[in-house]
Amino acid sequence: MVKELLVKIGLIYKQLTSRDFKVLNAIEKGMRRYEYVPLELIEKYAKMPEEHVVLVLSKLHRLKLVKRKTIAGYKSYRLTYLGLDMLALKNLVDRNVLVAIGDRIGIGKESEIFKGIAPGDKPVIVKFLRIGRTSFRQTRRVRSWADKPILDWYKQSKIAAEREYKALRELYRVGALVPAPIAYSRHVVVAEYINGVELYRKPQLPDPEKVFWSILDTVRIAYRDVGIIHGDLSEYNILVSIDDWKPYIIDWPQYHYRDEPMSDYYLRRDVEYIVRFFHKNYRVRVSLEDALDYVRGEDEEG
Ligand SMILES: Nc1ncnc2c1ncn2[C@@H]1O[C@H](COP(=O)(O)OP(=O)(O)O)[C@@H](O)[C@H]1O
Ligand SMILES: [Mg+2]
Repeated sequence: MVKELLVKIGLIYKQLTSRDFKVLNAIEKGMRRYEYVPLELIEKYAKMPEEHVVLVLSKLHRLKLVKRKTIAGYKSYRLTYLGLDMLALKNLVDRNVLVAIGDRIGIGKESEIFKGIAPGDKPVIVKFLRIGRTSFRQTRRVRSWADKPILDWYKQSKIAAEREYKALRELYRVGALVPAPIAYSRHVVVAEYINGVELYRKPQLPDPEKVFWSILDTVRIAYRDVGIIHGDLSEYNILVSIDDWKPYIIDWPQYHYRDEPMSDYYLRRDVEYIVRFFHKNYRVRVSLEDALDYVRGEDEEG
């Protein structure tokens, strides 16, 4: 495990002043044009005297918020993931989306998830997308939307967060069981906290068949009303609420559109995981074809 991951994001955030954020913002702006942003450009964007910028940069470097490189004799800087995290947090706090960030509650293939508090003491999750970070576990499935190698981690993670937020918004609007989306900034998505247990832990469900069909309802709404397919559906991306045993489908950034060429394949694979899991662990016996018919709505049209 990489050390940086164990750093308390909230503790670092608290050490930063508005001057520090000015410099972080300036580097971010420069990164639209440069991988490493020359010091001179940082000074220009930050509108701060050189001595101040240099002092701030050494603090940011010490906190591991920036990486340094000398390119053709020019001192240059770029944000690290942690640096980008700080900018996203600042934006969410300034917009009054977040009041506090707490402990890390999950770490997935391409994200870290923290618990947070929204105004009114509302518990939320703060999901930091970490696409293309080599220290992370290999992705199980290929992301068709992120195939372009020119996109670096920074852009990919921002695209992923925007995708996830927008998918959640569409799904939530039409009544699918997904965490309510709250906001996103850069590579970070804030959503409703579900007080639940991951399905892979095989919780004792009072009515497994009901949970099974409820999952298919969400898959069906996604497919028919929103026109998307999850693409990574499995017992790992389903949270069952321990208050009412409702299953929430999470983790949407890799979704596919219904009208893509491979969509039948993705839909079948998603549904097959669920059918198999419920068959094996809960003795729910529904055939894949019946489940697919239900999702596609062919039971009604026939
Ligand atoms: N809305 C949520 N409420 C509570 N816990 C969540 C929520 N979203 C994610 N988690 C926790 O974080 C873990 C990883 O989240 P997920 O969105 O699947 O990211 P990844 O892409 O990293 O797999 C989940 O297995 C779950 O434990
Ligand atoms: Mg997941």
